[in-house]
Amino acid sequence: MKTVLITGASSGIGQQLALDYLNAGWQVIACGRNLDKLAALKQQAAEPDHCQTLSFDVTERATVLAVGQQLTQRLDLVILNAGTSLYIEDAKHFDSERFTRLITINLLGMGYCLEAFTRHIPPGGQLALVGSSAYLFPFTRAEAYGASKAAIAYLAQSLSLDLKPHQITVSLITPGFVATPLTDQNDFPMPMRISVSQAAADIRRGLAKRKALISTPASFVFFLRLLNRLPYRVQLWLAQSLVRS
Ligand SMILES: NC(=O)c1ccc[n+]([C@@H]2O[C@H](COP(=O)([O-])OP(=O)(O)OC[C@H]3O[C@@H](n4cnc5c(N)ncnc54)[C@H](OP(=O)(O)O)[C@@H]3O)[C@@H](O)[C@H]2O)c1
Repeated sequence: MKTVLITGASSGIGQQLALDYLNAGWQVIACGRNLDKLAALKQQAAEPDHCQTLSFDVTERATVLAVGQQLTQRLDLVILNAGTSLYIEDAKHFDSERFTRLITINLLGMGYCLEAFTRHIPPGGQLALVGSSAYLFPFTRAEAYGASKAAIAYLAQSLSLDLKPHQITVSLITPGFVATPLTDQNDFPMPMRISVSQAAADIRRGLAKRKALISTPASFVFFLRLLNRLPYRVQLWLAQSLVRS
């Protein structure tokens, strides 16, 4: 039986991935902060014994490392998915406290999880980082979120070079808009927003093929990648016209 550890498994994409891997017969280590939601996830599993839950905050480095030290299993797959979104509402009066909070959860928390869990991945295993397609194009108020996801994209590329000698495959996952509690709070149009079950299916398919880059929905992210190839000035002009409209 293979084992997958998933952070952010108490909600949204991570929760759906956890359920799908459980249904596929994997041993799942589901991580999150919300104990009630993790317990509910375990109860939904056909074989609750195959689901281990771990509650910790990814921003608390000492706690994350202690969790890693207590793990005895070999992790065939680690999916670092925990994250959130906080908007910078007033760039003129930049809220660096909010910026720090978001970068700490999305990026530094991922670093703490890398330190805690990568050592448990055997040769032939896999590591997946959940970024976002948002880093491909400038979006208004997304200074903190986009910056965290741009950093994760680079992190995944660099890790894939340095973990290759250890025979660990690294995948970067770049979702577009997925219907989850995270995007439920958005007050703007979300083109091609897909269901969480579709996103999880795309992600699992990509991971099974050991793809370096997994985009879902592929067509929307492909479109953003095309925009990303435009000259810098043109990208800014297009983005600005979206802000005006
Ligand atoms: N939904 C989208 O359209 C979309 C698009 C692109 C990228 N993404 C990325 O996909 C990932 C999952 O997003 P989602 O839409 O599924 O969001 P979600 O439904 O809000 O779930 C977020 C998960 O992250 C966990 N989490 C947040 N802060 C944490 C912390 N400090 N410590 C530990 N766990 C923490 C939450 O755990 P608790 O609830 O237990 O606190 C929850 O399980 C995120 O990295 C997000 O940036 C999402």
